[in-house]
Amino acid sequence: MTAESKPDEPLPITIRDMDINDLAPVYHLGEMLFTSDLYPFIYRTWDQWEVIGLYNTDPEYCLVAEADEKLAGFVLGTIINKATWTYGYILWLGVNPEFQRRGVADSLVDRLVERMIDDGARFMMADTDPENVPAVKFFTRKGFNNVRRHVFLSMNLSKHEYYGKLIAYEREKAERAVWKRPRRPTKS
Ligand SMILES: CC(C)(COP(=O)(O)OP(=O)(O)OC[C@H]1O[C@@H](n2cnc3c(N)ncnc32)[C@H](O)[C@@H]1OP(=O)(O)O)[C@@H](O)C(=O)NCCC(=O)NCCS
Repeated sequence: MTAESKPDEPLPITIRDMDINDLAPVYHLGEMLFTSDLYPFIYRTWDQWEVIGLYNTDPEYCLVAEADEKLAGFVLGTIINKATWTYGYILWLGVNPEFQRRGVADSLVDRLVERMIDDGARFMMADTDPENVPAVKFFTRKGFNNVRRHVFLSMNLSKHEYYGKLIAYEREKAERAVWKRPRRPTKS
């Protein structure tokens, strides 16, 4: 199935809590979705520790969707408690391309928001790359508004005039340390 096709019959989706066996499949699905060519910033911040960390700190806001006995998608979120407001924050959302445009993200977000409301959230936040049209359309269709463009900046430290010298210095220091390593005494 492609992201463009849209069969008539509804897709039977099961939403459940993420468990320990989902960690690797969720990470790999994210690797497939958050690619460096499309969304470099999302790509750089997605790694296995992101999944493991949120599973440790916010297990109640880590959900997966199953369809046809396969991992159809996931959502990972957190709650931020401020003095007067409790915010629900959708950190990661991904749907297997095989099941896109069939309401999987819709069901995942609904279940997450229900849970967050239960825990006091009265405001939801989500963010993504401005070029990520499917996600921006998805969130606006879902009722998210007040879109603000966030500026992401990056720098290759090796190419920087000053920081590049620090990196070269550290590299030379490491190489010198290898040369200076004392030899093991030979047994007589
Ligand atoms: C964004 C994403 C999660 C949507 O998941 P989904 O299960 O396909 O979404 P749903 O079927 O629940 O909702 C579909 C709605 O979202 C929007 N949408 C989803 N994909 C779209 C696309 N390729 N082009 C335009 N709009 C799209 C539309 O409003 C659509 O409604 P419609 O089908 O009536 O036009 C999915 O495309 C995805 O995983 N993208 C890659 C990962 C990502 O960008 N995650 C978000 C940032 S962390």
